[in-house]
Amino acid sequence: MTNEATSLTSALAALLATSIARAGGWLPFDRFMAQALYAPGLGYYANGSRKFGSLPSSGSDFVTAPELTPLFGSALAVQVGDALQATGTDEVWEFGAGSGALALQLLQALGDRVRRYTIVDLSGSLRARQQEALTAFGDRVQWAGELPAQFSGVVVGNEVLDAMPVKLLARSAGVWHERGVVLHEGRLSFADRPTDLRPPVEIEGGHDYLTEIHPQAEAFVRTLADRLERGAAFFLDYGFAEDEYYHPQRHMGTLMCHRGHLADTDPLADVGLKDITAHVNFSGIALAAQEAGLGVLGYTTQARFLLNCGLLDQLAGASFPQLAAAQTLIQEHEMGELFKVIGFHKTGFWEASGFSQGDRTHRL
Ligand SMILES: C[S@@+](CC[C@H](N)C(=O)[O-])C[C@H]1O[C@@H](n2cnc3c(N)ncnc32)[C@H](O)[C@@H]1O
Repeated sequence: MTNEATSLTSALAALLATSIARAGGWLPFDRFMAQALYAPGLGYYANGSRKFGSLPSSGSDFVTAPELTPLFGSALAVQVGDALQATGTDEVWEFGAGSGALALQLLQALGDRVRRYTIVDLSGSLRARQQEALTAFGDRVQWAGELPAQFSGVVVGNEVLDAMPVKLLARSAGVWHERGVVLHEGRLSFADRPTDLRPPVEIEGGHDYLTEIHPQAEAFVRTLADRLERGAAFFLDYGFAEDEYYHPQRHMGTLMCHRGHLADTDPLADVGLKDITAHVNFSGIALAAQEAGLGVLGYTTQARFLLNCGLLDQLAGASFPQLAAAQTLIQEHEMGELFKVIGFHKTGFWEASGFSQGDRTHRL
């Protein structure tokens, strides 16, 4: 570990130790995760490390679809353009814009159809990167610390919901516990407490079972639904509908960390130096959105969505590396099947292009 990394983790560890003490010695995992990822200046998304990129040699930790190929953004632009027209809006709102790659791709593809592009990101260090990437667009691109009380436009979020803190629930010896973080002999460790919280569906069997629930992602979608006056929203992420998420055999949950293009399952080690993420329960997201006034436009796999948006047409004349990247986006064993897209409308359903074939809304 470099000196910089060591001092970063020790400053974050000191902050976490204070938070644990203030919480009475036991910090619920979602509050731990919020600090590990977003504590100002120290959390993984708040410090200056590189994070996104194709190769570990760039100092990056993982790759996302817009980092992999601009074809992702140009295909998504077909859906966003269709939504701008169908909802009579001319603004795009992107949550969690990372390096700014997707914003660049959408703005290039949509041209004058986007009067204003607003980025909402919790991370100040990423905002600086986004500003650098998007200078060419001048005042058309803006940044907001939070959503205004009312807004209209088309919302996009790629791999944002998975970055929102989750609660961990563990069933052991038939009793449900909430997992929290304590300091044990000076080290961060897990401790479970009995809880009334439950997964949204009953987990068959009496075996020990670890899983997540997503109150923050669901609250985020509710707020979005409340404040969106006119428009649509599209979220792309890895995850499943709840019957698959809470399948009795998925007894280890989906919590995962990413660093240097390697995955591990220990969020308590090297805090602040790696991403912590959980899959999305798309049924919970759809339900929260519907309860708050959004309608579902569609839900499908990323492969199906991108093909519906004409990805194949865009491959004419593509270079070999671009073809290979497009394959990664749509192949079943890569991002094609695990990644899903969900779309919402506020003011009336229309046949959205991305869900024209292979819609799986009935499976939510
Ligand atoms: C895994 S990264 C994805 C970045 C980018 N969308 C991409 O695909 O490369 C997650 C991003 O979501 C942001 N984020 C997490 N929670 C957020 C929230 N509640 N509002 C806005 N941004 C959020 C993080 O700061 C980070 O930029």
